[in-house]
Amino acid sequence: MKSQDIRANFLKFFEEKKHTIVSSAPMVVKDDPTLMFVNSGMAPFKEYFVGNGQPPSKRIADTQKCLRVSGKHNDLEEVGYDTYHHTLFEMLGNWSFGDYFKKEAISWAWELLTDVYKIDKNILYVTVFEGDKKDKTEMDTEAFSIWKNIISEDRILMGNKKDNFWEMGEQGPCGPSSEIHIDLRSEKEKAEIPGSELVNKDHPHVVEIWNLVFMEYNRKADGSLENLPQKHVDTGMGFERLCMALQGVQSNYDTDVFTPIIREIETISGSDYGQNEQHDIAIRVIADHIRTVAFSIADGQLPSNTGAGYVIRRILRRAVRYGFTFLNQKEPFMYRLVDVLVKKMGTTFPELNAQKQLIQNVIKEEETSFLKTLDQGLILLDRIINTTKGDVVSGDKAFELYDTYGFPVDLTALILQEKNMRLDEAGFQTQLEKQKKRSRAASEVSTEDWTIIREDDEQEFIGYETLETKVKIVRYRKEVSSKHGTQYQLVFNLTPFYAEGGGQVGDKGYLEAANGDVIYILDTKKENNVAVHISRDLPKNLTDSFTAVVENKQRFRIECNHTATHLLHQALREILGVHVEQKGSAVHSKYLRFDFSHFSKLSSEELQQVEHFVNSRIEGRLPLEEQRAVPMTQAVADGAIALFGEKYGDVVRTVRFGNSIELCGGTHVKNTADIWHFKITSESAVASGIRRIEAITNDAVKDYFSENDQRFKQIRNALNNAADPVKAVVDLKSENSQLKKQIEQLQKDKAKGVKSQLIAEIQSINGLNFLAKKLDLDASGMKDVSFEIGQKVENVVLIFAAEHNGKALLSCYISKDIVASKKLNAGAIVRTLGNYIEGGGGGQPFFATAGGKNPAGIPEALEQAVTLIS
Ligand code: ALA
Repeated sequence: MKSQDIRANFLKFFEEKKHTIVSSAPMVVKDDPTLMFVNSGMAPFKEYFVGNGQPPSKRIADTQKCLRVSGKHNDLEEVGYDTYHHTLFEMLGNWSFGDYFKKEAISWAWELLTDVYKIDKNILYVTVFEGDKKDKTEMDTEAFSIWKNIISEDRILMGNKKDNFWEMGEQGPCGPSSEIHIDLRSEKEKAEIPGSELVNKDHPHVVEIWNLVFMEYNRKADGSLENLPQKHVDTGMGFERLCMALQGVQSNYDTDVFTPIIREIETISGSDYGQNEQHDIAIRVIADHIRTVAFSIADGQLPSNTGAGYVIRRILRRAVRYGFTFLNQKEPFMYRLVDVLVKKMGTTFPELNAQKQLIQNVIKEEETSFLKTLDQGLILLDRIINTTKGDVVSGDKAFELYDTYGFPVDLTALILQEKNMRLDEAGFQTQLEKQKKRSRAASEVSTEDWTIIREDDEQEFIGYETLETKVKIVRYRKEVSSKHGTQYQLVFNLTPFYAEGGGQVGDKGYLEAANGDVIYILDTKKENNVAVHISRDLPKNLTDSFTAVVENKQRFRIECNHTATHLLHQALREILGVHVEQKGSAVHSKYLRFDFSHFSKLSSEELQQVEHFVNSRIEGRLPLEEQRAVPMTQAVADGAIALFGEKYGDVVRTVRFGNSIELCGGTHVKNTADIWHFKITSESAVASGIRRIEAITNDAVKDYFSENDQRFKQIRNALNNAADPVKAVVDLKSENSQLKKQIEQLQKDKAKGVKSQLIAEIQSINGLNFLAKKLDLDASGMKDVSFEIGQKVENVVLIFAAEHNGKALLSCYISKDIVASKKLNAGAIVRTLGNYIEGGGGGQPFFATAGGKNPAGIPEALEQAVTLIS
């Protein structure tokens, strides 16, 4: 069965069991401080488990892209070394939100595996949770008795908390699980050791394929468990492992999910898979990582220096490094795998197809820059090796190479090994630990559990209509972090405060109690779909009613910038073309930033056109036309563009100004005329194929114009109030370049004049005609004079020094005849003398120059020149 059919059959099976099929959510998590990437099929549904919001259906099934590369679930280091872990994998899952429970979950799983996929019952084992004393949880007898009716008891194994109690992170929804394992070994191997002894023992051919989790608890910050309001089912089946089982192979990498990519790596590298373990590991690493990086870019998460982007950058670098070391790939090669990957996966995941070019460009650029880092690192490492006494390179040096220059430490170790040296691993680890401690200390956060003030339904956002309302506090908690100190997070029953999201920053403002006491709200953030208000203090009486007021001037400026961002998006698509896709935006009160895909720098005409387009929409006084609840299909039919990497519900909000229509939850001006004016302040590159525009509106434009006006006045003043300042500057520039030319000529004439005097000063040392002297010339004067004397005098060695713009210059000229006969080298001489002026240089054996920052060293350099020649 082809992987496409395996996936399709899963979804069809659950559709027949009345599940709604949804598409995979983006992998990068945006409003959950406890999670960076979707690490399991249930992560996008977390809010439903904890009771914030309603799922679109009580039964859902999907295939979800998952990344296990950070936090609680991190498989990165295993990937490549075994044949069944991945950084990115698909998790097939079915969910019940307060609907069916263990009986259906278990019997359907069994039906699908054995009736539909026709897996032999005799190679399956199941596990059941045995209970945990510390958590005060009992053995899952219910799951046990359901299984007993399906499978013989000797195939039901008990599992502990580590294997059979599933938690998404340190906190949050969790519950006991029942896993299904498959034994893919040969008959002979099975006869030797029964499969039941190898379950959960990291055997490559006895692996877990499906995990059925029965969500009943919520893990609190203090580690204790509380019951969830309802019971749910969360299942996850490893798609690649299922393909391995159904395609009769013994490695995920031998399924058709990976083989096309592996064939391409073989073609590029000339190494055949399956011949050499070291090469095979590298090939698996690359085949796995290319998927992660490509999917991540398609979801809008580019490699970068911080956060999720940094994780992706490290994964890409890990692959490049394995290619570099084990497959001899010294040029970018990963980007060449994108074609096959897209061919294989582009139908199921159209975001790959649509952004193929961008994915290739970004990967190629990342590869190029990392290969440069590797080259530089190799030179530095060479230097370290040459200056190391003995055969051990210190941990400090290797750490510096790793930390400052990004050079992988395992590569350092490998190179040292090849040179019969070794790395002080312990020393390196000590440095690494120290650094980790420093960064942990810098980002330490401790968050208490929520204190509930009142039970309340879903929180309502009323900030589209009003900036002030009466609210009640529903719950609060305290957070202490090294960055912000002590802060409180407050959740209200309803709120006019916009929580940061969709690029728009969170609102600020205050809460006023009936007695006039005021608590400032410093920021508003979204967490699992609920607005959390951040303050320094807590109100005295938490059960009071408060007036919540949003700072309106700041909100208005944000709205001007948000609406302008939509108009800018429209302008770019109209002027540059529909290939322009939004790749990120930041809407602040003072400015806006918009990142988008486009392959070249914008010309000044294009920028002017864009500004003009936006300003004409502002002048056109276009009213806001907002629809709060449009079916997604309708919104798309109306022309709204869904962004890759964003999560949308079935029902969405659209924001329209004229022909600009976007899916958007943000706040906007009532009419484009409110923006007053739009001005682009910069255009730059963010990554290969991604441009960034920064712009300002309204008050900020007024400030910008008045500052510019001031500056212009100052310039004009400096130009003696010239009537035509532009002409005055052009004249000054041309006068300046003429003067420069005159000076050059004067220097040349002067050099000619000093030439005869210098010839007279030449001395004979060791049969050479030698002169060392400081001159009042610049570099080109020194060179001219040297060559002219060289034409006239034979067997000459001339060492000149000069001081120019506070820097020291040295030159050395040697007649060509004696370069060979006396084995003299001008380059070596200037390098030696360069030490005295704190600089370096080089050149040809017959003429070389050096520059340095210490003119005071010139006399000593010249003295040393005499000694050297003597
Ligand atoms: N959430 C469960 C897992 O990821 C199904 O294993």
